[in-house]
Amino acid sequence: MKNNNKINVCVMGATGLIGQAFVNILSSHPVFQIVSLTGSKTGIGEKYRDAINWKLPLAFPDKAGDIIISKPDKKSLGNRGIQVVFSALPSDIAGDIEDDLRNEGFFVFTNAGAHRYDTDVPILVPDINPGSIKLIEEQGFPKSGFIITNPNCSSAGLSVALAPLKRFGIEEVTVSTYQAISGAGYPGLSAMDISGNVIPHIEGEEEKIEKETRKILEIDPEIFATCVRVPVLYGHLETIWVEFSGSPCPEDIQKAWSKSVPEFNLPSLTSRSVEYLTGPGYPGNHLSFRGDPPGMQVYTGGLKKRGRRIGFNLLVNNLVRGGAGGSVANAELFHEIYRGSK
Ligand SMILES: NC(=O)c1ccc[n+]([C@@H]2O[C@H](COP(=O)([O-])OP(=O)(O)OC[C@H]3O[C@@H](n4cnc5c(N)ncnc54)[C@H](OP(=O)(O)O)[C@@H]3O)[C@@H](O)[C@H]2O)c1
Repeated sequence: MKNNNKINVCVMGATGLIGQAFVNILSSHPVFQIVSLTGSKTGIGEKYRDAINWKLPLAFPDKAGDIIISKPDKKSLGNRGIQVVFSALPSDIAGDIEDDLRNEGFFVFTNAGAHRYDTDVPILVPDINPGSIKLIEEQGFPKSGFIITNPNCSSAGLSVALAPLKRFGIEEVTVSTYQAISGAGYPGLSAMDISGNVIPHIEGEEEKIEKETRKILEIDPEIFATCVRVPVLYGHLETIWVEFSGSPCPEDIQKAWSKSVPEFNLPSLTSRSVEYLTGPGYPGNHLSFRGDPPGMQVYTGGLKKRGRRIGFNLLVNNLVRGGAGGSVANAELFHEIYRGSK
């Protein structure tokens, strides 16, 4: 299973946008190394460097360039000693493929939404609900494989920002999202639809935010979400109003975020989950790939108070924190807890 002391992994859907983010992150990872990349039609049988239409504003990772893109095939994974699979498959086909992999003993870390609401599958965010990883034992691990999901991109940012505020009693959340084009994958939306336009509808997104945020935070507030696609490339901005049962002031909120230090020190987590930026106009989408590691920091700004409601804005990188980076962090947590890497 290990080569050069690293764990061999496969990225499924490696030619898509989330797949590219996976390849970028895993190409210089201290624990995992990519040995297999899959697509569906793009470049099957070609080298990744020749087939890929690289869209990330991050350097192309040369290391992965020589890997030949294959079709997803569990037999060839098994033959190559791969047990860890990162999935960036479209949700409508991911469900059956991921089930099948789990049944064959694979450890599946997925971005797809197909299994997020299964009661024995965690929506894991390692700096918020690390304990939910125990659900893999209800799937049969260690006797079988498992599926671990990460949240939808907008829910990821919202949950990270709300988690440190649970102590004030979250009763109601109103959130409006301004979501980047890359959230729809590549080739994604038609330029005729999105250029110079905002689209006040993203199929299924509002329901996902409402359901996932409750599952991740293990609380049951009213959540009212409105999701809008905007013509920016990367990063989802969210404007949020929260009604609390307590009466925190903006300074209390800021203090709670400043103490949002993850319990586990994982390579893909930032030292603090939430960074508050002062000044009007912050956070903006130009910050999407800032931070260490790039794209994992959730930024907030614009705190204000009206009665028992606190308002603020946040920025989450949909491809990294809300996508591949979240999944890699999940695999790191699994490795930390179950593989005794301490
Ligand atoms: N984009 C985001 O911001 C974001 C954030 C969080 C979660 N997600 C989720 O992550 C997943 C990937 O999203 P994405 O934006 O990266 O999509 P994408 O750019 O459209 O990429 C989809 C990938 O899946 C492959 N694929 C498509 N149909 C397939 C099939 N029938 N069999 C095997 N592989 C197939 C594609 O290969 P080809 O190139 O060969 O077609 C491509 O590699 C989705 O489930 C999405 O909901 C996306």
